[in-house]
Amino acid sequence: MKKTERLDKLLAHAGFGTRSEIRKLVKAGAVTVGGQPAKDSGMQVDPEAGSVQVNGEPVLFREYVYLMLHKPPGYVSATEDNRDRTVLELIGRDYRHFELFPVGRLDKDTEGLLLLTNDGQLAHNLLSPKKHVPKTYYAEVDGQVTDADREAFRRGAQLDDGYITLPAELNILEEGNPAAGHAAKVELTIHEGKFHQVKRMFQSTGKTVVYLKRLSMGTLRLDDRLKKGEYRELTGDELEGLRRYHELQSDRS
Ligand code: URA
Repeated sequence: MKKTERLDKLLAHAGFGTRSEIRKLVKAGAVTVGGQPAKDSGMQVDPEAGSVQVNGEPVLFREYVYLMLHKPPGYVSATEDNRDRTVLELIGRDYRHFELFPVGRLDKDTEGLLLLTNDGQLAHNLLSPKKHVPKTYYAEVDGQVTDADREAFRRGAQLDDGYITLPAELNILEEGNPAAGHAAKVELTIHEGKFHQVKRMFQSTGKTVVYLKRLSMGTLRLDDRLKKGEYRELTGDELEGLRRYHELQSDRS
């Protein structure tokens, strides 16, 4: 059976204004369904039939949106905040009505990949501690990062609250030389998302993260064509990758 919805609800969700504004559009004859002027903004229509037009333009109805944002520093990963700018303020008006939220948090000073969506189920799966979604970060660290740190992270680092992290993979790009003022450059892949995890892992070795950028989450990699503050929708393949990854993970758990 075809699933139908109220015309005004669909158009409101597609960004055409409030229900009363849509009623006015319908009254003015701007909305057609199947080529005929819509009679009533409360009429039932099939959103998948592709038959609704506003001012002669076909309307694409969709429920979920998935955006990859290159988060710049200085923004908090929240939908609202009294003090700071939020990552939602970087998103254009066209997406406002979708009520997007960030999937997980990056610290205010952290940059890089942040997924925004209104798909609660996908977000829940990606954030679930049971799924162990890998997240890879590029970090610059004040101090010398050595094989001993790699080994310690592989075994699990003990954080300041006593928690021992799951094994994490540390790839040392440059060891760093504090005496010469050269920060270490590393990539770290973690499989959980404790508060300030990367910074606290390095803290456990007596070193300080001075720059942090997320490169990937699950199968999703930050598109290096996106400048800080820019975003784009995920491709079908990227979305499939995240979904497929999760089916595999849940089969195992
Ligand atoms: N780990 C951190 O310490 N900060 C982040 O923003 C993300 C991971």
